[in-house]
Amino acid sequence: MRRLTEGRGLLFGGDYNPEQWPEEVWAEDAELMKAAGVNLVTVGVFSWARLEPEPGARDFGWLDRVMDLMAGAGIAVDLATPTASPPPWLGHRWPETLPVDESGHRLWWGSRNQFCPSSPVYRERALSIVTDLAARYAGHPALALWHVGNEYGQICHCDASAEAFRAWLRRRHGGLDALNEAWGTTFWSQRYARWEEVLPPRRAPYMINPTQSLDWRRFCSDALLEHFRAERDVLREHAPDVPVTTNFMGLFRPVDAWKWAAEEDLVANDWYPDPGDPLSPARTALVHDLMRGLGRGRPWLLMEQATSGVNWRPHNLPKPAGQLRLESLQALARGADGLCYFQWRASRFGAERFHAAMVPHAGPDTRLHREVRAHGRELRRLAAVAGQPVPARVALVFGWESWWALEERGRPSDRLNADEQLLAYYVPLWERGVSVDVVPPDADLGGYALVVVPNLFLVSDRQAAALTAYARGGGVLVVGPFSGVVDPDGHVRTGRFPVPLREALGASGEEWLPAEGEVGCRWSGGPGFTAHAWTELMAAEGAEAVAEFTEGELAGRPAILRHRVGDGVAWYVATMPEPAALAGLTARALADAGVRGAVADLPPGVEAVRRGEVLFLLNHGSATAEVPVAGPAEDLLTGAVTDGPVTLAPRAVAALRST
Ligand code: GAL
Ligand code: ZN
Repeated sequence: MRRLTEGRGLLFGGDYNPEQWPEEVWAEDAELMKAAGVNLVTVGVFSWARLEPEPGARDFGWLDRVMDLMAGAGIAVDLATPTASPPPWLGHRWPETLPVDESGHRLWWGSRNQFCPSSPVYRERALSIVTDLAARYAGHPALALWHVGNEYGQICHCDASAEAFRAWLRRRHGGLDALNEAWGTTFWSQRYARWEEVLPPRRAPYMINPTQSLDWRRFCSDALLEHFRAERDVLREHAPDVPVTTNFMGLFRPVDAWKWAAEEDLVANDWYPDPGDPLSPARTALVHDLMRGLGRGRPWLLMEQATSGVNWRPHNLPKPAGQLRLESLQALARGADGLCYFQWRASRFGAERFHAAMVPHAGPDTRLHREVRAHGRELRRLAAVAGQPVPARVALVFGWESWWALEERGRPSDRLNADEQLLAYYVPLWERGVSVDVVPPDADLGGYALVVVPNLFLVSDRQAAALTAYARGGGVLVVGPFSGVVDPDGHVRTGRFPVPLREALGASGEEWLPAEGEVGCRWSGGPGFTAHAWTELMAAEGAEAVAEFTEGELAGRPAILRHRVGDGVAWYVATMPEPAALAGLTARALADAGVRGAVADLPPGVEAVRRGEVLFLLNHGSATAEVPVAGPAEDLLTGAVTDGPVTLAPRAVAALRST
C-alpha cells in the first residue's frame, strides 16, 4: 500500500470502463477525473471479449490508448485481468468451461462469471490472456496495481470439479478409509468403496452429509484460490514490483478470506451498505475492521462503493446529500488508504445501467458529481492519515470454517447464525467507540485485553487450548452460545459442553434448548431482560451465574456465567440476550479488561474511532449530536480549532488532531 500512496496520498477513484464509450468521451473523462482529484482507476475488469475477440486473437490497441491517456493525466491504473467474464466463444466452443449447478444444470453466458474454477480449458485460456496482458503492460508508467478477476465466488458441481475435489480430499485425508472415517459414512449407508464414487454435494433426496458439504466448501474456496494464485504468479513474473490484489465482498461465504488474504499484497473490498438497514453503520464498521484484520493491521483499499443507489436490490434507496462522504470517511477512519467507487461513468446499457456512478447520466453539472468532486478534493487535507494504524485492545474472533460448519442443515435451530452473532457482539463495542480487531480463530491473542468469541461452533483442539491459555494468562474472554461443539471434521465432541472450553469457563451444559420466542432473564440482584430463540441447560462449576433464566424449564438456571480462571476471567453466554443486555455484559467485560472507548458518553448514532493521531467522529444519526471531547484539537477537514464538545449535524464528520 505504501508504494501506492507514496507521492499520491490517499487513493481516490473508481472502476473505469472506457470500452463502453466512444473514444471522444475518454478525453473528457480524463479532464473530469483530474478535476475531481481522481488518482487511481480500475481498468479492464470486463474486457476479455474486447481484448480477445476470437480465440487467440489480440486487440490491445484501445487499451494502449487508455493506459497512455491515464499516464498523461497522472492517474494510476489498477489493471484487471479480465477473467471474471469469459467471452461467449469460450462457452460456445468449450461448453465444459461453463459452470454446472447442484442439479446438474449448466449456467450459460449472457451475464458474467460463467466459468468453472476447475476447468483446464478455462485455466489455460485465462492464463494465456493474462500472460500477454502482463507482458504488454508490466513496464507501463500508468500501471500501479494488478486486480485479479473480480469478486471470486464461483462454484461448479461438474465432473471436472468432482475430479479436482477427489484430488483435494486425498491431500486432506490420505486414503479412502480416512475419508470414510472423517465423513462418518457409517451413517445412512454412505460408505465409499472407490474414489470414483465420491462426489460434490449434488442434489439428493434428503439432507447431505454435513462433513461432505463442509469439505466441499473448503475445496471450493481453495480451488478458486489456486486459480487466483496461478494468475498472480504470472503477473509477478512479469512485474515483480507491482502489488497484486483481488476484491472481497465483506462477510461473503464462498471464500475463506483468511486464507486468501495471506496470498495477496494488499486487501481490497467491495462494500455497498444498505441505506434501508438501520444497522448499516455498525455492520459496515465491522466489515471495515475485518478488512484491516485480514491485512494483519495494514491499510486496505475500499475498491468499490456506490455514490448513491445500487440497482441490484428490489427497491434501491438513494444516498441523501452528505452520505457518500460520510461512508467514505468511515472507511478511511477504519484503516482504508483508498476510497474507490463502482463506477466512474454511469453505463447507458447493460444490466447495471441504473446503478449510481461518479458521473451520472445527467452529466458532471449535477449535485451528485459536485459531491464526488468535493470529496475527492477534501481527501488531500487528510493525506497525513495514509499508512496510519488503528490500534485496538479488543479482538473479535471469526472464522469461515466454523461459519460454514454451523450453517450445515440439520442443526437445532437456524436462528443462531455466526455472522449475526458477530454483529450482535460488535454493536455494543462500536456504540462505545471501542476499537476492535477482527482475528481468525488461530490468531495470537497475546496482545489483547479482551477477546470476544461470539460463536465458534467448530473449534480445533489447538484453538480451544489457546483460548484457555489466554484466559488463564490474565486475559478476559467472552464466549457466545453453541461454541466448541464440533471438531474440524464436524464431529460432535461428546461430554458436557462446551467440551474443550469447559475448564476455562468453569461451567458446562447438557442440553441445547431452542426456545419458542422470548425468554425472561435477570441479572443477579439486578433488573430483568429478555433473550430469544436459544437457551442451554448449564451448571456452574466454579463460575458465578451473573444472570439467570426466570421462566420456563430453565427458571433459576444460569444464563450468563463469569469465571475467574488463573489470572484472567472467562464469560459464557448460554443464550441470545437482547441488545441492551449484551451492552450491559460488554460494559462489564470491558471493565474486567480495563478498556475504554475513544470517547466517554458517546451520543447514540455517533461513531468514534482513532486512527494514528486523528480522532474521527462520524454522525450516522438523524439528530444533531454534541460529542464530549476534551482538549484543543484541529479539525483536519475544516482547519477549525476546537476546544471542548464538538457539535455534529446529521452525516457530519470531524477529524480531530490534538494541538
Ligand atoms: C460488484 C462488481 C461490480 C458491479 C458492482 C455493482 O459486485 O464487482 O462489477 O457489478 O458490484 O454494485
Ligand atoms: Zn465445472
